[in-house]
Amino acid sequence: MEATPAQVLISLDPPYRIADDATEFVFLGWAQVDDPAAPDVRMTVNGVEVPVRLGERPPNLHLYYKDVEALTFFQRVHLVDLLRAAPPPPEPFLLEVAVVSDGRSRVFEYAVSEAWLRRVYGRPVRARAIPPEPLQIRVTGAAAGEFHRTGRTTAEQIAGILARGGRPLDQHRRILDFGCGPGRVIDCVHDMHPQAELFGCDIDGEAIAWAAGALGEVADFRVNGLEPPLPFEDESFDLIYGISVFTHLPEDLQNAWLFELRRVLKPGGTLLTTKLDAAGYDYVPEPVKQAFARDGFVFWGEADITEGLPDVYRLAYHTDDYVRRVWGAYFDVLHIGSHDLNRTQDAVLMRRPRHALSWLPPKLRRRLHALKALAPA
Ligand SMILES: C[S@@+](CC[C@H](N)C(=O)[O-])C[C@H]1O[C@@H](n2cnc3c(N)ncnc32)[C@H](O)[C@@H]1O
Repeated sequence: MEATPAQVLISLDPPYRIADDATEFVFLGWAQVDDPAAPDVRMTVNGVEVPVRLGERPPNLHLYYKDVEALTFFQRVHLVDLLRAAPPPPEPFLLEVAVVSDGRSRVFEYAVSEAWLRRVYGRPVRARAIPPEPLQIRVTGAAAGEFHRTGRTTAEQIAGILARGGRPLDQHRRILDFGCGPGRVIDCVHDMHPQAELFGCDIDGEAIAWAAGALGEVADFRVNGLEPPLPFEDESFDLIYGISVFTHLPEDLQNAWLFELRRVLKPGGTLLTTKLDAAGYDYVPEPVKQAFARDGFVFWGEADITEGLPDVYRLAYHTDDYVRRVWGAYFDVLHIGSHDLNRTQDAVLMRRPRHALSWLPPKLRRRLHALKALAPA
């Protein structure tokens, strides 16, 4: 979990599920306003504007946001009538509620079942699968409610980075999402490249059980251990991506996983992972930043634990130099980005070398790599 850089001060509760027998729903929240005497707060449900009623300043807001003005708002919406009157939805259906206040906006997603959609539309309509809120929070941090939206942005960013690296997403056939959680990204990768054979794996048995049930037609989901191996044969994949996984593991586990990912990747195959830069974040304590600047890598073992995941899952930071030096012993590093993935993370695009040396033990490869770096050009 990473801290979100800028708070969007609009909240809408509860951002999760519409009951199967619901015809109406009360949307209740609060929004930051520039001037409480002249607020401009609007709400749309799947693009259809609904008027909102504004109430008081939210109680206790000043405990969290000292200088912020905000107003509560609420609206009872007859969802069935509203959706029946609106243009037919794109499939898979997703209920998206946008709140706009003085130009600031947020979109909140609500899960609905296919039984509910059949009642609304009188015919079968596929629903976008949105996991229960605790599983969303486990992978995206404190803020739930934008699970699919952020997954889609991340998948688009992955596709952009692959294309700029010279091998677009649709040129990869067998693809593994390493550390897929409940399938936030893989669901959208499937939308973009439906011909791909997709696999997802994670240490989180609950997330995998949910994904296997809700997204079983999208990918083959497996649980793996905190340490290698993966339940796949050598050279199984054309592409492996792992979003926000190496940002959480200690160095010995990272090295073991780099070695393992190289084993299951085809020679010449693509690996895309992410890293974090400690320097830019106020919440990172000074000693952690100093270790990062000195060593190029730091594992912050006192960072908050994530409920539901092992204790060892904390925060890790890598400099570009470290990635080139250490990860470069396992893979050819093609690109290191800056805040180009998942809001705060740096994408690292790599390729498994085709040459014979790639099977030497990592320590020896690292030594050779260091010697190569010393050699005159
Ligand atoms: C921040 S979440 C990101 C999930 C997903 N990649 C996404 O972007 O939505 C990190 C994920 O990595 C998983 N993870 C951590 N260590 C792992 C490991 N050794 N093998 C597989 N998954 C791991 C966690 O369980 C968690 O689901």
